Amino acid sequence: MLLIKNCKVLVGNDFLERNILVGDDGKIKRIAVAAELDSADEVLDAAGNFALPGLIDVHVHCREPGMTQKEDFLTASRAAAAGGVTTILDMPNSKPATTTVALLEEKRKLAAAKCLVNYGFHFGATAENIDEIKKAKNIASVKVYMGSSTGDLLVTQEDVLDNIFGSGKTITAHAESEEIIRANTDIFRNAEIKDVAEFHLMIRSNDAAEKEIARAAEIAKRNKARLHICHMSTKEEVAIIAAAKKENKILSCEATPHHLFLTVESAKELGNYAKVNPPLRRKEDAAALWDAISKGIIDCIATDHAPHTREEKEQDYWNAPSGMPGLQTMLPLLLDAVNKGILSLQQMVKLTAENPAALFRIRGKGKIAVGMDADITIVDMHKEKTIKNEDMLSKCGWTPFNGWKVKGAVAATLVNGAVVYSDGKIVNEKAKGKEVIFNGN
Ligand code: NCD
Ligand code: ZN
Ligand code: ZN
Ligand code: ZN
Repeated sequence: MLLIKNCKVLVGNDFLERNILVGDDGKIKRIAVAAELDSADEVLDAAGNFALPGLIDVHVHCREPGMTQKEDFLTASRAAAAGGVTTILDMPNSKPATTTVALLEEKRKLAAAKCLVNYGFHFGATAENIDEIKKAKNIASVKVYMGSSTGDLLVTQEDVLDNIFGSGKTITAHAESEEIIRANTDIFRNAEIKDVAEFHLMIRSNDAAEKEIARAAEIAKRNKARLHICHMSTKEEVAIIAAAKKENKILSCEATPHHLFLTVESAKELGNYAKVNPPLRRKEDAAALWDAISKGIIDCIATDHAPHTREEKEQDYWNAPSGMPGLQTMLPLLLDAVNKGILSLQQMVKLTAENPAALFRIRGKGKIAVGMDADITIVDMHKEKTIKNEDMLSKCGWTPFNGWKVKGAVAATLVNGAVVYSDGKIVNEKAKGKEVIFNGN
């Protein structure tokens, strides 16, 4: 048994000094004050730091199979552990895309062999795979690309979408209007590109997201589907979802760190490294996302960790793929925001652990409580660090936040009770993560 000593744990709505006893089954056995619980055969001294429920990132592209030049389950999970993320939900736009039960089983084997953190899978929707969707078991959701992004998954036909949304599975949607994106592309195809972030925003304009998100919410409502909207990025989407949530209690959404912390104005130097779908937006959009977080309109923060190699990003705009990594930097950025008073640590825990676990109905996760899995992230709120490309454990080896100074760092990450990351290093690659169980789907 492992005793985590001298940490602050969320009890009700307050962080209190507690010790945590972890059983050999990897679950939390007891939480008590030091006077009642002070020894075990193994002790980890948290030195007064906060012990948070390990982060659950519901939107991750691990790139296996087929795109392992960018990432694989081992490298993605190293980045996750270093970033305090103990559960990742993988997206289906691998090569081949995860659109059949057989392909899902293959992906399960790949992850089981390598993944250092816990994991689950979103299943891909196509115009033809409704039978596979219905057969798929223990999936996070059915991911629908209503608007093309990296990979070739795309579903736009209304009747097909009705079938998919009506399948009884949770739906997650990348909602950007393919029609508007194509029309913009025709208009600007030969324009000179001076600023990638600005140009990408012209192609994938705010109205593309606005139109498609409204359509997704409508289709979900008439099919009584649980819908989770990926990567909200505009003030217009916030308004639509705030209104739609009043009528549809099972509608949820996420925002990414890059849409919260980066804007076209601040990303001018990044070139294609700033190319991401949906695009970086303007200051006022980022401000609307923060406001939506404070009002509880946005349910969770997810990275949309979408690594691409430097070689791929160094191509011209039209050929460079969209997406940026985020697993290792999400928590430091959020802790820095907490230190600056932009959100509370309690809110952050809701957005990164409690709500993701509740929304995707993940068994045994999202809280530090007796009986829950011992997925625990210990954070030092005082430690200052500079985010650097060379410290990134993702295979892609870069971050759009290179050079950012942040206050608040991950001290250690425990997955099912095993310390995987500590003091700046991955310390254990033997204890593998487990596939999570979804109570639903
Ligand atoms: C993602 C990718 O590269 O897989 N890219 C991105 O720009 N976000 C796909 C996606 O989530 O849309
Ligand atoms: Zn023991
Ligand atoms: Zn997407
Ligand atoms: Zn994505």
